[in-house]
Amino acid sequence: MSKSTVRAGSNIAFIKYWGVADAALNLPLNNSISMTLAEAHTTTTVEWHAEGLETDEITLDDKRLDVSAAARLVNHLDRLRALVGVDHRARVVSRNNFPMASGIASSASGFAALTVAGAAALGLDLDPTRLSALARRGSGSASRSLFDGFVEWEKGVDDRSSVAHRLHPASHWELFDVVVVVSTAAKHVSSAGGHTLASTSPLNAGRIASLETALTTVRTAIDSRDLGLLGPVIEQDALAMHSVMMTSTPSLLYWQPGTLEILQAVRNWREFDRLPVYFTIDAGPNVHLICEGPTVKPLLARLS
Ligand code: PMV
Repeated sequence: MSKSTVRAGSNIAFIKYWGVADAALNLPLNNSISMTLAEAHTTTTVEWHAEGLETDEITLDDKRLDVSAAARLVNHLDRLRALVGVDHRARVVSRNNFPMASGIASSASGFAALTVAGAAALGLDLDPTRLSALARRGSGSASRSLFDGFVEWEKGVDDRSSVAHRLHPASHWELFDVVVVVSTAAKHVSSAGGHTLASTSPLNAGRIASLETALTTVRTAIDSRDLGLLGPVIEQDALAMHSVMMTSTPSLLYWQPGTLEILQAVRNWREFDRLPVYFTIDAGPNVHLICEGPTVKPLLARLS
């Protein structure tokens, strides 16, 4: 087979991946835990050509990428080519069902779908764990998008051991991620660039040391579907990660005034209206609100 189409969901991390132990291999400083998003996904078709194509042709959301925009994806195709020892070029067509500037990570679902489709179209028979390791090389968080539901990425010590696995399938707990788009402007520093700066923050070691306990709490909270236990820990790690970002050299300040406005509103709704909703924030200004089904409607009413 030389052509394959795969759909992968994006994910939102409850305990974040921030900082690399090995930048070349994308080995993280810490384990991370996420929830794969069922309704925000990337669908990617990879078609390998032994001849007739001079270069890889990559189309993302109906736009053909130029050489510099395609570079990271071409590097990933090189990894796949190297596994089989071929020099084929690829035609890649990829589509997100969510806007790229929505605050939902397109690199996670994008590299997961590219990895699985690219490997399958080359005839490679790799298990999900091997595919998770491969996806990680493209974008760390993509290692987690290989699986649905609740997923932990073990930091590992080398290329083989730094892989994700499923903690629970999606059916275990119906949690929602309501994304509040504060700004659609492009980030000033990509997460790929930010990971190498984490160790310059004096707060980084403290965050990493605190995560053993936080990870245990998040696993327990997911096991027992306990949002009251999960929520405070995910808020704390999002704030800890942003504290590391803000105190790195150079400093990364992703928040906008609207970001803080949402964080304070959420805490007020929780305290005064007893609305069980908690926030988390990735490398950008937009806020992800985590809640259970009955909270979605009253939450949307307040947000609007
Ligand atoms: O996979 P990357 O390099 O885009 O990094 C993801 C970083 C965060 O989204 C901020 C955290 C995470 O674990 O998803």
